[in-house]
Amino acid sequence: MSDIIDPAVSDYLLEHCTPADDVLRDLAAETRDTFPGEAGMQISHDEGELLTMLVKLTGARLAVEIGVFTGYSSICIARGLPKDGRLLACDVSERFTDVARRYWARAAVDDRIELTLGPALETVQALSTDPVVDFAFVDADKTGYPGYYDALIPRLRPGGLMVLDNVLRGGRVLDPEHEPDVVVRDLNNRIVSDDRVESVMLPVRDGVTLVRKRG
Ligand SMILES: C[S@@+](CC[C@H](N)C(=O)[O-])C[C@H]1O[C@@H](n2cnc3c(N)ncnc32)[C@H](O)[C@@H]1O
Repeated sequence: MSDIIDPAVSDYLLEHCTPADDVLRDLAAETRDTFPGEAGMQISHDEGELLTMLVKLTGARLAVEIGVFTGYSSICIARGLPKDGRLLACDVSERFTDVARRYWARAAVDDRIELTLGPALETVQALSTDPVVDFAFVDADKTGYPGYYDALIPRLRPGGLMVLDNVLRGGRVLDPEHEPDVVVRDLNNRIVSDDRVESVMLPVRDGVTLVRKRG
């Protein structure tokens, strides 16, 4: 959890979005119990509601997710898709995604989700270069972000939306001396000067950038 937003405000935001249902609540609890060291990687519920709403608003039918973990964001994305929509979910970990698979089934969205295990860049690069992707969510290894961005933009349809998580890196992107976050900082700078897209950065949790492909 980022400390960019006052914790009291964070709590208030969580209390004032559509609440999580039992499936998401149980998934969050099991993730905390099973992976206490990694549970902080899970998106917050308000971010999940934002994803569902964005998928619905863009009318997306084909979505790509990079970074599944135990499947919270996948469920939120899949819930925004129509029944015949498809989410291509990418991760490297069988251990994490075994939990995801169980909860996708419980949420009754497993028929819409296709999981590929392996480095996500290879998975995306193996997709056709036709611009058919309507929605993409990027939330995996931060050093991979520029590669994911470059591989996804040509595959995004005009009007399609990419959402990148953790773009503020706990506020460290503001510090030019902080080397580990230089990759995300450079990508943030590159996105605003990319003529192919229009973008807005939101202070949701650890920062979320919405990138809409022009056209
Ligand atoms: C921040 S977590 C994703 C959290 C998830 N979006 C959620 O809502 O719970 C990052 C995930 O990226 C995966 N990952 C790391 N490097 C990867 C890579 N090169 N390709 C695909 N997935 C990767 C990790 O296994 C981990 O599950």
